[in-house]
Amino acid sequence: MSSSTLRLAVVIASVREGRFGPVVGEWFAEQARRHDGFEVDLIDLADADLPVALPAVSPRIEPNPQRPAGMLDLTARLDAADAMVVVTPDINNSYPASIKTAIDWHYTQWDRKAIGFVGYSGASGGLNAIAHLRQVFAELNAHTIRDYVSFPRYYQQFDAEGRWTAPSESEAAAAGMLDQLHWWASALAAARVAA
Ligand SMILES: Cc1cc2nc3c(=O)[nH]c(=O)nc-3n(C[C@H](O)[C@H](O)[C@H](O)COP(=O)(O)O)c2cc1C
Repeated sequence: MSSSTLRLAVVIASVREGRFGPVVGEWFAEQARRHDGFEVDLIDLADADLPVALPAVSPRIEPNPQRPAGMLDLTARLDAADAMVVVTPDINNSYPASIKTAIDWHYTQWDRKAIGFVGYSGASGGLNAIAHLRQVFAELNAHTIRDYVSFPRYYQQFDAEGRWTAPSESEAAAAGMLDQLHWWASALAAARVAA
């Protein structure tokens, strides 16, 4: 790992039965591996225990509450990350409840880190989820980067063999977004060490 290699957690947000999220997550993780500036960790929220009943005490008072055993792996991987990319669909014009629950169970894990987004869904391509997540992450003192990748009507992007094929311009969008994410994540990693 070179000095400019940062740890990037790519988080598949949807845990829905029959979900498409892992296909988009794998595609983006591959773009991030090609970028060469990141060590990539692909996290699937479906692997974590995410109870919606949150701890009794606010994270400002107890930032690391006792978490369920099935969440500890997720917590350690978020802790280790310098940057995150959330791969999210729009669900009723917003993000899935699973990603909000994962966010709310954590606190320091987001603090002063750079966060990017990949959206996919029907007509809106995940953009409403992304807009709402920006508001949520602002409260957690994270920096969300401007550029994103969006796949509206992803179900129209399958080839004759039934494989999902991202439009070629999406690779360029991902590369540009990863450059921006790397810049912010490097700056924030250095500043966290200096603080
Ligand atoms: C309950 C529900 C609500 C949805 N709401 C929207 C929506 O508001 N806008 C949209 O573009 N797509 C919407 N969709 C389509 C989803 O974004 C699409 O099914 C996507 O594949 C969901 O991600 P997943 O397959 O990874 O779970 C909705 C789907 C479901 C199941």
